[in-house]
Amino acid sequence: MSPNRHSAALAVRDLRVEIRTREGIVRPVDGVSFDIRPGRTLGLAGESGCGKTVSALALMRLLPRGQARISGGSVLWSNGDGESVNLATAAEQEVRRLRGRRLAMIFQDPAAALNPVFTVGEQIAEVSRLHLGLSHGKAMRRAVSLLSRVGIADAARRAREYPHQFSGGMQQRAMLAMALAGEPGILIADEPTTALDVTVQAQIVDLLRGLQSEAGMGMLWVTHDLGVLAQVADEICVMYAGRIVERAGTRELFANPLHPYTQALLACVPRLHRPAGTGGIPGSVPTPAEVPPGCRFHPRCALSRRLAVELDAELCVNTQSGSVLRRCVDEVPALRPVGADHWVACGEVAS
Ligand SMILES: Nc1ncnc2c1ncn2[C@@H]1O[C@H](COP(=O)(O)OP(=O)(O)OP(=O)(O)O)[C@@H](O)[C@H]1O
Ligand code: SF4
Ligand SMILES: [Mg+2]
Repeated sequence: MSPNRHSAALAVRDLRVEIRTREGIVRPVDGVSFDIRPGRTLGLAGESGCGKTVSALALMRLLPRGQARISGGSVLWSNGDGESVNLATAAEQEVRRLRGRRLAMIFQDPAAALNPVFTVGEQIAEVSRLHLGLSHGKAMRRAVSLLSRVGIADAARRAREYPHQFSGGMQQRAMLAMALAGEPGILIADEPTTALDVTVQAQIVDLLRGLQSEAGMGMLWVTHDLGVLAQVADEICVMYAGRIVERAGTRELFANPLHPYTQALLACVPRLHRPAGTGGIPGSVPTPAEVPPGCRFHPRCALSRRLAVELDAELCVNTQSGSVLRRCVDEVPALRPVGADHWVACGEVAS
């Protein structure tokens, strides 16, 4: 195990991504900041289309080449031992040196990460050979042991099979084994359990938590499911339309959600004695090409509408979804501290 493995961290500051589309240049990630700390799990939550995957891919410098690029900000990887690299600007060769060994990613779609023409065992072994310098034989034995670690029965036989012979849940586990094969200090997991049934989901959650406390890995856990983050995350960033709208320790976020978007998301999480709100949040996440001015959540914000009803009509604007506060349309709310361990981007929340 690397001596630095316990102290790798990633500091993301004002990260911006541009994508070239037929409608012109869009910015699906527009000024995002957070920290992945050693031995801790940061949750990144938000509905579909909020920019979670684009953020994760940007951190790994895996954005589709020629189409998307990091247009601003920094992604500072450090090993706690004086070595640091800004992944936003580092040369491709330097990034490749770190990827797999220092930081690894589990993708939303396991089929995209597994190569159909090699056996699962060969693919996992290749990571250990490349990054840990193991011989072919040793790397294969390690691949079998990793497959068994991630809960695949009869791992020696399964290692000789191809990805298409694995079920979706097993492919997810194989991808996890591959990500762990380089002993990364930081793991970025994009919806690692979403496609799985509840039992397998719980097993993967347990497994990752166990591995993390054992190895001191820092994790970014990307999901639209706040229920999962309640179990796994130390801290949560809630993302909406390319920006972080609230950030707090997990316990604090669940006990005291302040942003109207977080409150609406939490109302959709089923609880023991309360069914989930039906239908989710009214309206939908804007595409990056059509983000509204001011607070990007204003067309869907119940608080802004409620305050508009209470206030003088002069302070309000009529929108498609009803009357909202003028300042919600005119001003871009900054993420600001509202308590220890708690930040929110809403002008209507008291400090
Ligand atoms: N290559 C691309 N070209 C054009 N638009 C893109 C591209 N990749 C992502 N987008 C757009 O950027 C926005 C953010 O996408 P992203 O995949 O990051 O969302 P997400 O939060 O991960 O959603 P989900 O929960 O569905 O995975 C979406 O509107 C998406 O359509
Ligand atoms: S700034 Fe206005 S629109 Fe945005 S979340 Fe706060 S109240 Fe709602
Ligand atoms: Mg995604």
